[in-house]
Amino acid sequence: MTDVYIAPSLLSADFARIAEQIAAVDEAGADFLHLDVMDGRFVPNLTWGPKIIGDLRKLSRRVFDCHLMIVEPEKYVDDFREAGADIITFHYEATPHAQRLLTHIRSLGAKAGISLCPQTPVAMLQDIIEDCDLVLIMSVNPGFGGQKFIPRSLAKLREARDLIDARNPQCILEVDGGVGSDNIREVVDAGARAIVMGSSIFGTPDPGETTRKLRALVG
Ligand code: DX5
Ligand code: ZN
Repeated sequence: MTDVYIAPSLLSADFARIAEQIAAVDEAGADFLHLDVMDGRFVPNLTWGPKIIGDLRKLSRRVFDCHLMIVEPEKYVDDFREAGADIITFHYEATPHAQRLLTHIRSLGAKAGISLCPQTPVAMLQDIIEDCDLVLIMSVNPGFGGQKFIPRSLAKLREARDLIDARNPQCILEVDGGVGSDNIREVVDAGARAIVMGSSIFGTPDPGETTRKLRALVG
């Protein structure tokens, strides 16, 4: 069993055929379904809330990996947990009380994740790394699928890997944005263990087959 989690992002899926698209990546062995929640304030785009996640929950037993790109995430984490989120990740930049929120998410029985935008240094995690079950390094500016990977993200992944190895080895290091067959090996070599991919999976004619091929690249 590999220690790399493949996390297709439904942001790039066709919601008119969502049951079929989820079944394709499920059957191909995707580990997480990555669900991008956007509020039009933290990021300049809108997606879905707990109702849709609750409905999607009926379609898959995979780990629901919810990436909240919203302001005041503390107001909504209970609703996302109730809807079926297994991992709840919010942005460091979106709340002044990250440590409190991480602890609260854990108290709900979910895994607590924190995400860093490209401008936020890994050093900001120094005093909260033990409270994190997942660290998400954004390798594009959050808000849209299909953007280009920011090369500096590889160095950030290595820094985060070192911090996690030293202080909280159970914590999952995730990368999100601009990852596909060209660079999946590189991000894993830099320390990422959960790999979010949207357009490089759902932008292809056969998302299931693509998921299998991507996994084969990382063993
Ligand atoms: C972007 C989202 C991503 C998005 C990635 O803000 O957080 O999860 O789906 O899309 P790709 O893989 O196309 O860069
Ligand atoms: Zn995401």
